Amino acid sequence: MRIPNTFGFDVKAAVYAEYHSVEELEKWIAEGRITSPFLHIGCGSNLLFVKDYEGMVLHSRIGGIEVTAEDDGQVHVRVGAGVVWDDFAAYCVEQGWYGAENLSLIPGEVGAAAVQNIGAYGVEVKDLIESVETVNIRGEKRTYRKDECEYAYRRSLFKKPEMKSVFVTYVNFVLSKKEHYTLDYGTIRQELAGYPSVTLATLRRVIIDIRESKLPDPKVLGNAGSFFMNPIVPRAQFEALLDLYPTMPHYEVDAGRVKIPAGWMIDQCGWKGKALGPAAVHDKQALVLVNLGGATGKDVVALSDAVRTSVKEKFGVEICPEVNFIE
Ligand code: EPU
Repeated sequence: MRIPNTFGFDVKAAVYAEYHSVEELEKWIAEGRITSPFLHIGCGSNLLFVKDYEGMVLHSRIGGIEVTAEDDGQVHVRVGAGVVWDDFAAYCVEQGWYGAENLSLIPGEVGAAAVQNIGAYGVEVKDLIESVETVNIRGEKRTYRKDECEYAYRRSLFKKPEMKSVFVTYVNFVLSKKEHYTLDYGTIRQELAGYPSVTLATLRRVIIDIRESKLPDPKVLGNAGSFFMNPIVPRAQFEALLDLYPTMPHYEVDAGRVKIPAGWMIDQCGWKGKALGPAAVHDKQALVLVNLGGATGKDVVALSDAVRTSVKEKFGVEICPEVNFIE
């Protein structure tokens, strides 16, 4: 059966199965229906299948957005892992809940968002998470508090290989009912200047406009969003690079480390808009690799390797894929 994936690769799994509730998942486990090897996916918006998967691919369709507690200042919301992330982000904006608006239009589902710690425009999903509910392959339930989830830039406990058999079922979020915005990233303030006032709705509009102007729509041009993580380098290395490239954009991480945009380095290497066979570096955002039509996972891996080599040669910096390769 064909595996959903936003690169638009024609890849198949020996078995592809979707469950709609925790009870259904528990029943499958109890009946021994989940057989190794297995792979749990969201909607495939951050995956690169190098070939067909010779096992079982599982996908949660657990839905529901439920308010579990509320006071004057905050609302606590329990959301099914299979809810489309942007449906939840849009719902928060409609309800007047602050926190998720900068994460508007990020592809994928709520469970994968909590695994990947999605982030954009100065906000990471971990900022909104209280706890993550799971069921493991033995049918045992466990809720991980946020401080147990080991969240870091595009990382979490759930991405570790030993957590492969732990399935996220629900994510508990806390959002604010008090007006506050995160506006300091990139051109957000400039873009907002065109609107009469800053509201959740106008900020969501601005974020969507910025994303749509740079990031290709996977329905039109297969892709998995940012293909590489932005590398975090020691400050001494950053300063040496800044001497060579005084206009290099960067973000402070802590006293000893600085993050450099991989997209800028790839662009500087001249890769923007360039193709290698049927795979290409997107012409509006060099951090995104695209399927021009008919590409396979191997074509994208070849392009990724070539891009990484160029960046290493020019800047002495190793860039690592953010997208998960499935062999
Ligand atoms: N830049 C270039 N050329 C390019 C691309 C970027 O010069 O082709 C420069 C930009 O001008 C800017 C800097 O690099 O000065 C950073 O670019 P941008 O703000 O577009 O963000 P990014 O670092 O490329 C990250 C996230 C995105 C997220 C944006 C906005 C990662 C891996 N990517 O991209 O996340 O939307 O910031 O917050 O951290 C994703 O994860 O799929 C994703 C799209």
